[in-house]
Amino acid sequence: MKIKRIFSLLMMFALIFSLAACGTQSSGSDTKQSATNAQSSADTTDSSNSSTGKKTIVVYFSGSGNTKRVAELVANETDAALFEIVPKNPYTEDDLNWRDENSRVQKEHNDTSLQNIELNSTSVPDWESYDTVLFGYPLWWREAAWPVNNFVKGNDFSGKTVIPFCTSTSDGIGDSGSKLAQMAGTGTWQEGMRFSEREEESAVKEWAQGIGLK
Ligand SMILES: Cc1cc2nc3c(=O)[nH]c(=O)nc-3n(C[C@H](O)[C@H](O)[C@H](O)COP(=O)(O)O)c2cc1C
Repeated sequence: MKIKRIFSLLMMFALIFSLAACGTQSSGSDTKQSATNAQSSADTTDSSNSSTGKKTIVVYFSGSGNTKRVAELVANETDAALFEIVPKNPYTEDDLNWRDENSRVQKEHNDTSLQNIELNSTSVPDWESYDTVLFGYPLWWREAAWPVNNFVKGNDFSGKTVIPFCTSTSDGIGDSGSKLAQMAGTGTWQEGMRFSEREEESAVKEWAQGIGLK
């Protein structure tokens, strides 16, 4: 009788121990599960929104790659989407030779009716969802390069903060940004930033971090 009681007591202990072990294991896997969920939602947030909850896009035109490089650095630093303004008839190196009287840019500069540049697309997927537009372009004769004009005219910037930036050899951004603001007629356009042709990566990143989008 005594042996039977000891045996059943042992069985009870064994049962209690195995249940406790199961409990620990399942709470362990729960912890892992919620960490995985936290990770995946953070990833989604990273790809579409900054941690401020604002959604940002970098829109840019680049003839010879300098503005493209800056735009990509800025987008990376602010977790922003990127949209490149691409002319239907892209500019070749010869086209961009402003020292040549007969080059495409010289002809377009001298005859403003030639500055109506047809673009591959002016519509940005999900445009309405962006709060902030960082708008990049090279300076051409101290103005925003005219291939951006049809993008600016063709989009509604209402409710958006627009921050222009440009690259140039030596000139400052001047009034190129406020002229684009006038052209757009909508949006809250802020004072812009000028970068040199081969601006230090650290300077671009510092500016991007400073505009408070991250
Ligand atoms: C047609 C043309 C006009 C330019 N005019 C100016 C200018 O007025 N002032 C300036 O500092 N740089 C001027 N530049 C230099 C460009 O702004 C500079 O090289 C810029 O970084 C080019 O950017 P991208 O490589 O994105 O096209 C001009 C370049 C070109 C091709």
